[in-house]
Amino acid sequence: MSYPYQIKSFEEYKEVYERSVRQPQNFWADIASNFQWRRKWDTVLEWNFKDLDVKWFKGAKLNITENCIDRHLEKLGNKPAIIWEPNNPDEHYRILTYNDLYNKVTQFANVLKNNGVKKGDRICLYMGMIPELAIAVLACARVGAIHSVIFGGFSARSIADRLQNANAEFVITCDGAFRGGKDIPLKSLIDDALESCPFVKRVIVCTRTRTPISMIKGRDVWWEDEIKKVETLGMAPAVAEEMDAEDPLFILYTSGSTGKPKGVVHTCAGYMIYTTYSFVNAFNYKQGDVYFCTADIGWITGHSYVVYGPLSAGATTLMFEGVPTYPDAGRFWDIVDKHRVNIIYTAPTAIRSLMSFGDEPLQGKDLSTLKVLGSVGEPINEEAWHWFHEKIGKGKCPLVDTWWQTETGGFMISNLANATPERTSWATLPLPGIQPALVDENGNEIEGAGSGNLCIKFPWPSMIRTTYGDHERCKQTYFSTYPNKYFTGDGALRDEDGNYKITGRVDDVLNVSGHRIGTAEVENAINMHAGVVESAVVGYPHDIKGQGIYAYVIYNGNHNAGDEDLIRKDITATVTRIIGPISKPDKIQFVSGLPKTRSGKIMRRILRKIAENETENLGDTSTLLDPKVVEEIKEGKL
Ligand code: WT7
Repeated sequence: MSYPYQIKSFEEYKEVYERSVRQPQNFWADIASNFQWRRKWDTVLEWNFKDLDVKWFKGAKLNITENCIDRHLEKLGNKPAIIWEPNNPDEHYRILTYNDLYNKVTQFANVLKNNGVKKGDRICLYMGMIPELAIAVLACARVGAIHSVIFGGFSARSIADRLQNANAEFVITCDGAFRGGKDIPLKSLIDDALESCPFVKRVIVCTRTRTPISMIKGRDVWWEDEIKKVETLGMAPAVAEEMDAEDPLFILYTSGSTGKPKGVVHTCAGYMIYTTYSFVNAFNYKQGDVYFCTADIGWITGHSYVVYGPLSAGATTLMFEGVPTYPDAGRFWDIVDKHRVNIIYTAPTAIRSLMSFGDEPLQGKDLSTLKVLGSVGEPINEEAWHWFHEKIGKGKCPLVDTWWQTETGGFMISNLANATPERTSWATLPLPGIQPALVDENGNEIEGAGSGNLCIKFPWPSMIRTTYGDHERCKQTYFSTYPNKYFTGDGALRDEDGNYKITGRVDDVLNVSGHRIGTAEVENAINMHAGVVESAVVGYPHDIKGQGIYAYVIYNGNHNAGDEDLIRKDITATVTRIIGPISKPDKIQFVSGLPKTRSGKIMRRILRKIAENETENLGDTSTLLDPKVVEEIKEGKL
């Protein structure tokens, strides 16, 4: 495959960018013409941010799996689509060619149909990073079902919340998942979740760990048995369902500053075009390159840049089941060496963690195949940037810092490898087609250099369309802060040349190891512990995780009184039960009161400063109801 829309130089970037602003419709129509359509669009774009009504490629018909698989078969049928590296390096890896992928996806799509799945049905996927997860994702898209993948670090209760919100009648899971030295009991967590989800009528269970699990008659079936059934029936490979450009492709839940996680909805055509276009441009992907994105498919990075973007581009995408430090801190570099990886895309938290092991894990690893490095998830600090660039890229590989979000579907601001200049710890320039804006507190757009709240003022194909089941919430959250703009929740700096440096969230959302965590959600979970009266959660700088979770807790339970560590463990266990292990607080400080204004609002600014060890400049505390609590909290600082 060749990519006529692949930008080759800075000059070309500037030209293309300018055109994308001047003639957005022509710009996107040209890119869209490189895809396979059942029917072409009537209009390229109709939009209205006020009511949040955005339609890309209206009237067009397609199926994303025909673009990710079928259209490659003639030329790339025998080329690897997916290379899968298991958790245990002694187990054999697997390669699925595009032909294999076609066979497996069309076969599993038949399994879905046999189990009664229809276009528009919601299917929840709770699986480890095995090829069957990618196959299941694509099989859902093949039959037009809306998938909702849930990361393995969420609790049964979080799964149940998502199943209920999506009203999903189907679940695909595994007996368990291998992650480093741990086995995660996926099916058992699903069983717990289903106690409160009687509407789920079918659970398809894929074998991975062979952990003993319960299988409930009439509800649970084995993946492998279902495959045998469609083989026995001699069913022809499932023909792709014809989808409307704006039909939902998937729901992915993400946390915000208030309430329960929102189901971000992405649609078929725009998402497909944008993930492919951005993948090919940011990484300067060349046919045959082996591309390794270390993200889990449970997050947007895995959706857009392990599965859909690379496969639609006919790329070879490497899926890794395990974690960076298992069996040791050289694992990523072993994988690069073993599979001759050309592009590696990972997160600052992983880089910082691996950096802390020194150079020893790099000894004897051949990294000479690497051509491009990528970073995502949080602002990359200078030390991590340089280590990645020098030690891994040997100073010769462009490092792309891709800024984007679950809601944006694909990269928004990033340098483009071998085309636009990189700059340490700066995401640099918007991709052509993306129109960012910086806005001050009063909602006025800032011109030229400056700093402010980062917005996007023109639609792009892979933008969020709605939050599942609650369109009003989507409008409120993203499109009402600043009229006629999408508000990202991030702050940014901009220089005279239009380069952006993302400074982090400006709302009550934490970024812990690249995972988005809502402080209100964690507070609710802590408050569910029987002895807790009230709590307040803030972030603090953490060497490896970027941000750690700092909880201030008012506790009046009698049980274990005096043994703070035991109480901390119980609170942590409560959070793990309610949200999942990814939201465990790193520090819990017991306090007798929280700094509140006279109107009862917690002054988080003060708590944040104390957690950050900035106890000197707490700013104005005169509006506090009881300034004494601040002194007490400062003294008890962990
Ligand atoms: C938030 C989105 C999008 C994939 C992973 C996270 C932060 C993400 C960068 C970057 C600075 C970044 C932002 C953003 N973020 N990438 N390259 N530089 N910050 O997806 O869970 O939707 O979180 O991650 O704060 O708002 P997400």
